[in-house]
Amino acid sequence: MAERTLIIVKPDAVQRHLIGRIIARFEEKGLQLVAAKLLQISEDEVRQHYAAHKGKPFFEPAVKFMSTAPSLVMIWQGEGVINMARKMIGTTLGFEAAAGTIRGDFGRSERYNLIHGSDSPEAAEKEIEMFFASDEILDYEFSDANWLYVQGDSPKK
Ligand code: TYD
Ligand code: MG
Repeated sequence: MAERTLIIVKPDAVQRHLIGRIIARFEEKGLQLVAAKLLQISEDEVRQHYAAHKGKPFFEPAVKFMSTAPSLVMIWQGEGVINMARKMIGTTLGFEAAAGTIRGDFGRSERYNLIHGSDSPEAAEKEIEMFFASDEILDYEFSDANWLYVQGDSPKK
C-alpha cells in the first residue's frame, strides 16, 4: 500500500480563504487526494492529536485555536508523501519558515501556521485513524500516473 499522510488545513487558513491554494500545492506536486472532510475538530480530538505536546506552554492555546472554527482534514497518498509534505509545509514557526513553503509563503505567525502534516509513519497511521473510517478512504488510479514519476525513482527507505 502506498504511503499516506494526514494533512489539516487549520482554522486560520480556512478563514483566510486559502483552502484552494493549499490543495493546489499538493495536486501540482503529483500527490493523490484519497479522503477529505470539512469539520470542526473537537477539543478532545485536538488534545489527543497534540498529546505529545501536553504540558508545553503552547499546548492550551493550540487546543483552543484548533477547536474554535472549521478545518479541512485530508489524506494525501504517494511514495514518500510524509517527508515530501513536511518539506512543502515548511518549519513550524511562520516567521522562520523558508520562502517557497506553505508556511513561509502564506503566514508569519507562530500558532496560526496554516497547516498540519504527520511527521512519521506511526503518527500518520494514528492521525488517519482518528479522523477517517477505512471505507472513507478511496483507492483509485490517475490516468496519467505514468507521467508523474518513473517506476523505481521513488524515495529510498
Ligand atoms: P509541532 O508538532 O512542534 O510543530 P509542527 O506543526 O511543525 O509539527 O507543534 C504543533 C503545533 O503547536 C504547531 O503547529 C504550532 C504550535 N506551536 C506553537 O504555537 N509554538 C511553538 O513553539 C511550537 C513548537 C508549536
Ligand atoms: Mg508536529
